[in-house]
Amino acid sequence: MLLTMPNRRMLMNLAAVALVGLVIVSLALPSSRVTLRELIGPKPNPARPSPPKSKYKPTPTYLPPPIRDNFPLVATSTPPPIPKWNQARKDVHKEYDLPSAPPLFVGFTRTWPVLLQAVTSYVTAGWPASQIYVIENTGVQQANARGQLSLQNPFYLNHTVLKALGVNVVTTPTLLSFAQMQNFFLSLTYAHDWPYFFWSHMDVLALSYEDGKPGLTPRYDQEGYKSIYELALTALRDARASGDKWGMRFFAYDHLALVNPAALEDVGGWDTLIPYYLTDCDMHSRLNMRGWPIKDAKAGIITDVASTLEDLSALFRVEGVETKFMDPNPPPPPPPEEDKAKKHEQPKRRGQSVKRGVDGYGALPAGGADEVEKRDAPEQKEARDEDANLAKWHTLRKTADKMFQHKHGDRERNTWQLGQHGGEGEPFYYDPAGFAEALDLITENGREIFRRKWGHRDCDLISGAGRKFGDAWKVEKDY
Ligand SMILES: *[C@@H]1O[C@H](CO)[C@@H](O)[C@H](O)[C@H]1NC(C)=O
Repeated sequence: MLLTMPNRRMLMNLAAVALVGLVIVSLALPSSRVTLRELIGPKPNPARPSPPKSKYKPTPTYLPPPIRDNFPLVATSTPPPIPKWNQARKDVHKEYDLPSAPPLFVGFTRTWPVLLQAVTSYVTAGWPASQIYVIENTGVQQANARGQLSLQNPFYLNHTVLKALGVNVVTTPTLLSFAQMQNFFLSLTYAHDWPYFFWSHMDVLALSYEDGKPGLTPRYDQEGYKSIYELALTALRDARASGDKWGMRFFAYDHLALVNPAALEDVGGWDTLIPYYLTDCDMHSRLNMRGWPIKDAKAGIITDVASTLEDLSALFRVEGVETKFMDPNPPPPPPPEEDKAKKHEQPKRRGQSVKRGVDGYGALPAGGADEVEKRDAPEQKEARDEDANLAKWHTLRKTADKMFQHKHGDRERNTWQLGQHGGEGEPFYYDPAGFAEALDLITENGREIFRRKWGHRDCDLISGAGRKFGDAWKVEKDY
């Protein structure tokens, strides 16, 4: 027999081992009430509650229509040539005593049709495409370069189209705040040895003074005509030639700005702890405190817009293209009761504390209807006798004015985020409304950081508060 009856001594040993085991198990157990069966599981456990049920926010009652491609032409052919009077001569920058051609940076986070319009308008107004750098700051890594996002995704950007236009794309390694992106611009100047740079908001439409501007340029068909690009270079040459310290030049407030990196370096760059609004007040004040003045200059008509031309071919003056605009992010129709209560917001233009979309972040105050502009009928009749090229330009200019009115008119500003609301399931998808809400919170926090940094609530740190460069974080609050 393989098994023999245990003798008495073995039984005693077994009993002792069992007893010790029982003590260990009872010590290790969280509760003496846990039974052996529960330890062995899997068990349906009526005693343990299931996780609480999530209560979802109501689904929006209104969703704007899908956005449309505003440059269908490039899907089938190369972009048309730009108007020949706006074509820059080779190496024009050398005529302006510049050692190298200064780049123009345009930051982008959301709302592709508006970016594409800004870039296309600069190109057709005469800014050499090869000197334009779109800074793709979407946080979606390689997804756009690989063509993995759809047009309805708020972070969609089409590398192919930008390349077809001849502009460069630089993708940030992670989503940057506005202040971080400005410092990224500065870092590019070190990497590429660029002594100066321009940057533009992405929600603008740029036009050259093709009808002439006294003191700056004759009209497009006359000797000595200067496009927006050449006038920008003129401003840069003049700033350098003055021999004075200079920090920036603003064109049409700061829709387009010329920056002197030496000044940014001297004040220690942008304060990235103030990520969005008021960070411009912080920077501009510090530049002034250190003797790097910011002056206004003129180079062209740079209009602040939230909508886009229906067909960007109009900027190339393509024959037979109607100049109309559409809002890629129309807000919901207001509920009839609330309508009147909303009429208090203040979209004033000038002044540094003005609320405006910080570009590349798409805080675009959206407009009313999907299609507002129909046609420039009366003006077009007036212009019948006019030079055909100027007539087209006037139509563009008037349309840009209407787009400005559309953006700054009486309407709810904060509804744009439902505009492009697609892309669910695509790489690096982020809930669009959540993204907007989170940015608002970060922005608000940044305002408080500004207030504590300077002990002052408003933008007028020098004139209104007497602050000096070294005062940051050292002064008691004055409010
Ligand atoms: C980008 O644009 C090109 C040209 O219109 C088009 O063929 C391509 O499908 C677009 N890419 C994406 C990802 O939409």
